[in-house]
Amino acid sequence: MSNAEKLSELKKICENCRNCQLYKTRTNVVFSKGDPDAKLMFVGEAPGEKEDLSGEPFVGAAGKLLDKYLGYIGLDAKDAYVCNILKCRPPKNRDPLPQEEESCIGYLWKQVEIIKPRVIVCLGRIAAKKLIKEDFAITKEHGKWFEINSTKIMAVYHPAALLRDPHKKEDMLVDFETIAKELESL
Ligand code: URA
Repeated sequence: MSNAEKLSELKKICENCRNCQLYKTRTNVVFSKGDPDAKLMFVGEAPGEKEDLSGEPFVGAAGKLLDKYLGYIGLDAKDAYVCNILKCRPPKNRDPLPQEEESCIGYLWKQVEIIKPRVIVCLGRIAAKKLIKEDFAITKEHGKWFEINSTKIMAVYHPAALLRDPHKKEDMLVDFETIAKELESL
């Protein structure tokens, strides 16, 4: 079975998921977008309003900014695999609750198992805390490589944080250049 087929089966399971309360308020399950065979995987926090309505991750303002940074390193969102810790939108975009993360994280690990990306990039603090370490400090530790199950993993600022604080843009560019260097070396 191809990765695309395996992911499509997993997506169907997610679409029927009622493991936490978010199924009651979702419009769509937001599973992923991009290349099922990608070397590079991005993991964000949770769908926002535009994502909930369209069923695709990172289609709003933060997504446009992510596309821009991918463009800086010569990539397109279609070349990477993009998903979130939570597959359903928390009401009013509040932070995910620990119980929601616990209910959903198994789907993310299955996505990782199927795709076997060479590099995982957490978009923001929430994904970094869940995937890298509980006490992850985004201001100090963004742009640094860690390893989980022999896969290189890094966190960068969440693109939405750059919209609030443009001073972070320079660091974001440096971090994307670090990602590009790693991909070139593979
Ligand atoms: N923010 C996220 O973390 N994920 C999305 O899909 C959109 C915005």
